[in-house]
Amino acid sequence: MEYRHGIGWDLHRLAAGRRLVLGGFEIPSELGLEGHSDADVLSHAITDALLGAAALGDIGLHFPDTDPRWRGADSTLFLRTALQMLQEHGWRLVHVDSTVVLERPKLGPYRDAIRLRLAAALELDPARVSVKFKTAEGLGPAGEGRAAEAYAVVTLSRDA
Ligand code: C5P
Ligand code: MG
Repeated sequence: MEYRHGIGWDLHRLAAGRRLVLGGFEIPSELGLEGHSDADVLSHAITDALLGAAALGDIGLHFPDTDPRWRGADSTLFLRTALQMLQEHGWRLVHVDSTVVLERPKLGPYRDAIRLRLAAALELDPARVSVKFKTAEGLGPAGEGRAAEAYAVVTLSRDA
């Protein structure tokens, strides 16, 4: 077996009047994420990790934020498309690990709902999908409550 790891990161500003969607699941929150699509920072980081592991470029290459097709888009579409692309290159997705950095609200109660959405989009057993949460201790854009960040790592395998 040949194995590859991919890393992804993303950041979106927090703003009033926007939805907070993480991994395709909408979290009740006063503030949401700004962006061209639904601004699902977690799905964007995982999409980049998938593309990176297969050396297929990045999210902006395949889904440019200048393209009106992606305005308000459900970002799990990016996950599904990246999965399909790597499968076309013979890769199988083994697992996903991720961290969302957000001061509030507390995301722990939504962990399993987010994992189930991601698992469905990525055709994975939920046991292979990990989602973790951190505050930034009041420091930096995330800590000051101005942004959310997400980090993701994925592993792919392929017959050597
Ligand atoms: O950032 P900190 O180390 O204080 O986070 C402690 C725990 O709080 C995390 O491990 C996570 O379980 C939870 N948390 C959360 N929602 C957030 C941030 C942290 O549920 N927005
Ligand atoms: Mg993004």
